[in-house]
Amino acid sequence: MDLLRSRAELARLEPLRRQGPLVLVPTMGALHRGHLSLVREARARGPVVVSIFVNPTQFGAGEDYASYPRDLQRDLAALARLAPQAVFAPEVGEIYAAGTGGVMVQPGPRGRRLCGARRPGHFAGVLTVVAKLFHLLRPDVAVFGRKDAQQVLVIAEMVRDLDFPVQVVDAATVREPDGLALSSRNRYLGSDERERARCLWQGLAAARERLTRGEREPAAILQALREPLAAADSVDYAEIRTVPELAPAQVVAGRLLLAVAARVGPARLIDNLVLEVTGETVREAALLEEGHA
Ligand code: PAJ
Repeated sequence: MDLLRSRAELARLEPLRRQGPLVLVPTMGALHRGHLSLVREARARGPVVVSIFVNPTQFGAGEDYASYPRDLQRDLAALARLAPQAVFAPEVGEIYAAGTGGVMVQPGPRGRRLCGARRPGHFAGVLTVVAKLFHLLRPDVAVFGRKDAQQVLVIAEMVRDLDFPVQVVDAATVREPDGLALSSRNRYLGSDERERARCLWQGLAAARERLTRGEREPAAILQALREPLAAADSVDYAEIRTVPELAPAQVVAGRLLLAVAARVGPARLIDNLVLEVTGETVREAALLEEGHA
């Protein structure tokens, strides 16, 4: 596992390209089993580089940029068993060599909905850093978690519209035994809050249950989705959206995203289910058909 800290050291990625398609797994560190599952997915596809970079431009004023957990040694230890070929862990000045006030990549329509409406500038920050990572590391494939479904779709839209020669892949969400999606921000939760944080998954599971039993009325499914969210301190959204557009679903058919964002104590948590509804059948699905959306 080669640790790269600077742009100049990225030259050491060159020999990896001869071993197969170079696969990038971008992260902000504070690695958990969800991140590790992406590395496993990546390993099956070619030589892997994991990036660890807490990106200042995707945090809004008053968000947790300063307090975001940073522990490179712990992250390297967590990665050791999966042995990605390289880890790129640059300082802020290395990525934003010319400062952070310059040109940014603005999201398309998909990025203005859901979290985009709640966190102004967030997806521009994500796209800008992902575009920079794509240019610096020149991966053939990039693996992202379905847990951040809108992020995946916004990145796929950028790749399509700006012709990045990268295949985007989305990997399944890793959950705790009680359904809570793993997140670096779960560590902000106290024990009562951890208990209440289950309500996101409870809403998603209840909505899926209604769908599986044949319910196709959006209002009834939304009610099932929203009822358990009474346990949260506030709800940003709980919606049924079309994939990949993220428009409100008028009819419950085709590929749909059940998406939830809620605040529990100090943490803003998001979760979702991607479902393919075909007639009577309801099955979990990926966001992207191997690279295209
Ligand atoms: P971060 O929150 O560290 O997440 C890195 C990757 O791990 C993302 O693709 C995310 O969707 C995935 N991930 C997080 N929790 C997961 C879970 N429970 N199961 C599966 N995958 C999970 O997302 C970011 O960083 C940043 O926005 C980034 C893309 C790195 C740009 O800065």
